[in-house]
Order: sequence, then structure tokens, then C-alpha cells
Amino acid sequence: MRTRPLKVALLGCGVVGSEVARIMTTHADDLAQRIGAPVELAGVAVRRPSKVREGIDPSLVTTDATALLKRGDIDIAIEVIGGIEPARTLITTAFEHGISVVSANKALLAQDGAALHAAAEANGLDLYYEAAVAGAIPLVRPMRESLAGDKINRVMGIVNGTTNFILDKMDSTGAGYQEALDEATALGYAEADPTADVEGYDAAAKAAILAGIAFHTRVRLDDVYREGMTEVSAADFASAKRMGCTIKLLAILERAADGESVTARVHPAMIPLTHPLASVREAYNAVFVEAEAAGQLMFYGPGAGGAPTASAVLGDLVAVARNKLAEATGPGESAYTQLPVSPMGEVVTRYHISLDVADKPGVLAQVATTFAEHGVSIDTVRQQGKDGEASLVVVTHRAPDAALSGTVEALRKLDTVRGVASIMRVEGE
Ligand code: NDP
Ligand code: HSE
Repeated sequence: MRTRPLKVALLGCGVVGSEVARIMTTHADDLAQRIGAPVELAGVAVRRPSKVREGIDPSLVTTDATALLKRGDIDIAIEVIGGIEPARTLITTAFEHGISVVSANKALLAQDGAALHAAAEANGLDLYYEAAVAGAIPLVRPMRESLAGDKINRVMGIVNGTTNFILDKMDSTGAGYQEALDEATALGYAEADPTADVEGYDAAAKAAILAGIAFHTRVRLDDVYREGMTEVSAADFASAKRMGCTIKLLAILERAADGESVTARVHPAMIPLTHPLASVREAYNAVFVEAEAAGQLMFYGPGAGGAPTASAVLGDLVAVARNKLAEATGPGESAYTQLPVSPMGEVVTRYHISLDVADKPGVLAQVATTFAEHGVSIDTVRQQGKDGEASLVVVTHRAPDAALSGTVEALRKLDTVRGVASIMRVEGE
């Protein structure tokens, strides 16, 4: 075994970084054996240097991350700061100075993954990011490497721990949205700005990364259709229950049947209680990958939190360190197919629509006609009347999203329709 250590710069020492430092210290001997050389924590860049950090030698702490990367002896940088800047500049600086990078930063990878991959490749270095998608779950590497010989056609799953935690609490304990979000934040699951979680940006970033890997094409954050879960109400859960369903925030990536395009979307959806995703509780994530030869694979585990995410970071650290010793690099970006990403209007699925209508003769027929005029076939209708008003719940057969949008627009114009209370897609049947 080589005795000269590989030197590691830890950029960020918050929820994830502090756990990375802890494991690097407590498991130093095992890591050295597995890598073939010791890995030494050579510097820790933070924003608030005076903060007490248990287990971290204060002499390693700096606020000048750039100087740490430029000092000439760093082999590997672990970026767990998050956000776009200064993370992007720091990763680029690392590559310019011969430093391979491990990152957990999905927001940055979804926005600038192509440029960062190109910079890594140009300098003969690694960019690994297992922790960027689905916390502790090994997913990026299995998709990038183990399934590299197969053809992935569909990926569907829960990829955000915070929103799954909130939806699970709302469903199982009747907790309010804010109360559940506060708990998820206190547990270290939420992003620095939890809007990224609840509005679906975090899941959309992960969807973009997974779509790129699954379909060997470039999918950016802006290509992913996104709806958050802030509008999901207790009434939606009650409606879902009546249908034998629950509600999850799903990421769904599909290759078109002709193989010529892909779709990528994130939105809340009703799924049957019998579906395996329905039993994914708290901040756990689960992802189904459907590949031509392998069939259906399911990946499940903790999707957020300091220690679980640090596990994924450490796995990457070991892989990158081994590559460094072998003077090799792991797989880079594979985006040779350049498939277009189709708009949401072309996605075909089922819908649950809840309408507030006047409770008088002919209303149901009017509503049914509107669906028919837009080519959307109705599966079931449930009506509940009260004091001259009624609530009408329509579940459709599969229809294109554009047809459903047209239907809803026309329904809103009907005098007898007081309002569209909720529209939710139904998946997993
Ligand atoms: P935190 O907010 O807990 O930690 C961020 C760290 O970055 C802090 O140590 C902070 O310093 C430091 N920092 C902020 N700005 C700078 C700067 N300009 N220069 C140097 N250091 C800086 O975030 P998390 O640990 O939760 O997340 C880190 C990354 O991991 C993000 O990309 C996130 O999306 C990702 N991730 C997080 C998961 C989780 O469950 N939390 C799961 C999977 C991925 P200071 O301590 O002084 O404030
Ligand atoms: N905020 C993210 C989540 C962290 O809740 O899933 C893990 O990526």
C-alpha cells in the first residue's frame, strides 16, 4: 500500500460535509485498505469559520476555498456547498489544478453538467456525483455502468426525500404542510431554500441528471416539466383514498415508443395503494428503472440526510481515489444520442379532475360532452350534491396532456362549472 496520502479538500461542512468528515476520520484505516493509499482531509472550506465543528481540526478550516484548491497538493475535492455559485467556479478551478471532483450538487449538475463533464474530460479527471440523486441509493453508478450494455426505456420514482416526508405525514397523520416541512428541515432533509424541494426544482434537477444517463442524451433542468406539491390538499388525499390511492411526487422519464424522443416530468400523482411506491415512507426514495433486457429494477433507500448522503459521497471518493492511483478515469458523460425532449402536451396518462358545479339537470351531460369534444374518454364519474352545488370527480382513461388541458380550459368557461378544484395525474396502474 502507498504510504503517501491522497489529499482531500472538503468544500462545505454542513449537514452532508460534516458526516463526510466524520466517516473519513473514523473509517480512515478501512478506506486506506480499500483504496490502496490513505486519504487525508487536508482542508475544509466553509462560510462561517468560527462555528464549532465537532471532530474537525480547526487548523484545517478556511473561508478561502479557492486558495485551498490552488495550493498545489490537493488530489480530490468534495463539493458539498450546494447551489450554482461559488460551487461552479470552485469545481472549474479544481479541474484547472488537476483535482478530481466528487459533488452532491444536483442543481449545478442539472444546469451545467455538460460543461463540467467537458472540463473534467479535458483535464483527464473524474467528476462523480452519486449523492446528487436519491441520497444513499446507488443509482447513478448502476445506471452509468451496470446498465451500460442495456437500453433503458423508462425511469419512474420518488427522488425527493423532503416532499415524500411531507406527503407521507399529511397522509398518515393528517399533519399540516408547514408543520411537516419544518420537521423535514430540522432533520436536515430540505435544501438551503426548501422552495427547491416543495416546488419540485430539486426533483426536476435529479430527473434531468437521470434522463441524461438513461437515454445518453442531454436533458437540462429547463427541459423537465415541473409541478411542485404545495397545492396538494387534505381533500386531494381524501379523494385519493376513495380511489384506493395515495399521492406521491413522482419523477417520470420515458423514451417514446419510436425511440426518437424522450419526455421528462415531475409532478404529484395519485398511485394505487398496491403499487410499491405507495409504501415508500418518510424521507425514503425509490426508483423503478425499466430496461429492455433487464426488465424492471427497483432501487430503494434513504433519499436524504447527512449520513446516508455521506455514504454515497464516500463511495465516490473511494472510486475516484482508486482511479487517481491507477492514473485512470471513470466513465464520463455519454450524450451521443441527442434526442429531443418532447413537450408535456405529448405525455399520455390518466387524470383525476375535481370540479365544483351547479347541482341542476343537464350539468353532468354538459361536462361529459366537453370531455368528449376534446377526445378525452371518461372512466368514472362521482357526484356529491349539497345546497344547489355539487362536486364532480371525473377520472379519465389515458389521454394526451394537451387534450386534458384543452378540456379543462373549456370546462372553466362553462357557466355551470363554478371552479376546477384540482387536477391530478393518475400513475402506476
Ligand atoms: P448545508 O447548507 O448544510 O451546508 C452547506 C455548507 O457549505 C456549509 O458548511 C456552509 O458553510 C458551506 N458554504 C456555504 N457557502 C460557502 C462558500 N461560499 N464557501 C465555502 N463554504 C460555503 O447543505 P447540505 O450539507 O445539506 O447540502 C450540501 C449539498 O449536498 C447540496 O448540493 C445539497 O443539494 C446536496 N445534498 C444534500 C442532501 C441532504 O439531505 N442534506 C442529500 C443529497 C444531496 P457554514 O457551515 O459555515 O455555513
Ligand atoms: N433536499 C433533498 C431531498 C436532499 O429532500 O431529497 C437530497 O437530495
